[in-house]
Amino acid sequence: EPVVAIVVAAGSGSRLGASVPKALVEVGGVPLLLRSLARLAAGGAQHAVVVVPPDAADAFAAVLERAPLPVTTVAGGAERQDSVAAGLAALQQMLGEQEVVVLIHDAARAFVPAEVVARVADAVRAGADAVIPTVPVTDSVREVDDDDGSHVIDRARLRSVQTPQGFLRSVIEAAHAELAETGTPVTDDAAAAEYLGHTITLVEGDRRAFKVTEPLDLVLAEALASEEG
Ligand code: C5P
Repeated sequence: EPVVAIVVAAGSGSRLGASVPKALVEVGGVPLLLRSLARLAAGGAQHAVVVVPPDAADAFAAVLERAPLPVTTVAGGAERQDSVAAGLAALQQMLGEQEVVVLIHDAARAFVPAEVVARVADAVRAGADAVIPTVPVTDSVREVDDDDGSHVIDRARLRSVQTPQGFLRSVIEAAHAELAETGTPVTDDAAAAEYLGHTITLVEGDRRAFKVTEPLDLVLAEALASEEG
C-alpha cells in the first residue's frame, strides 16, 4: 500500500513561549514542520496531509511551498484528536476508499530518524493493526494518589510513546469515528485504536524523536540541527 502521513501541527505551542505556532519555530534556520516532513519523506511517506491552525493558514502555506513532498493542508481543531480527525477526513476526500498505510506524526517531533519512520510503516505492511515507536523510561516514576500520598511504579514495565504511529487507514478511521461518537478523550492515536480493541504493536523508537515542547527542548534541537547540518 502507499504510505501517507498526517502531520498534526495545529497546536499553539504555548508551553514553548514562542511568538509563532510551534511547528513554524525555526531550528538551525529550518521550521520544525519542514524538518518533520523531510524525515517522513526519507522514511517512505509519499504524500502528507498537514493539519494547521485555522488562524495561521497563510503563514503555513508560505512555509509549505518548500515542502519536500506533495502536501495537502487542512484546518485543525481544538484538541489534538480533532486535528487528527480533520486530517483523516481530508484523506478520505483525496483517496475515497483506497486502503493506505497512514503515519500520524506530531510536527514537533522534528528529529525523528527516517529509520524509525520506515520501521513503523514496515510493521503495518507486515500486518499489524496499530504500530507505535517507544523508548524506555529513564526516570524513576511515582503515581500520586488522591489523598496526596504516592506510590512507585516499576519503570521497567513503562515505555514513553512517540510518533509517527502507523495504521491501516480503515482501522484508524473507524477508531476516531467511534471516539467522536462517544466523546472519549485520548492523547494519542494508538489509544484510539486500543479503545476499539485493536492490539498495539511496539517497535523501537529513538530518543531523537522527542517532542519539542518546552524551551529547554530547543537547546537539544539546536544541537541536533548543527550536528546534522
Ligand atoms: O500539545 P502536544 O504537544 O501534545 O501536541 C502534539 C502535536 O499535536 C503537536 O504537533 C501539535 O501541533 C498537535 N496539535 C494539533 N491540534 C491541537 C493540539 C495539538 O494539531 N488542537
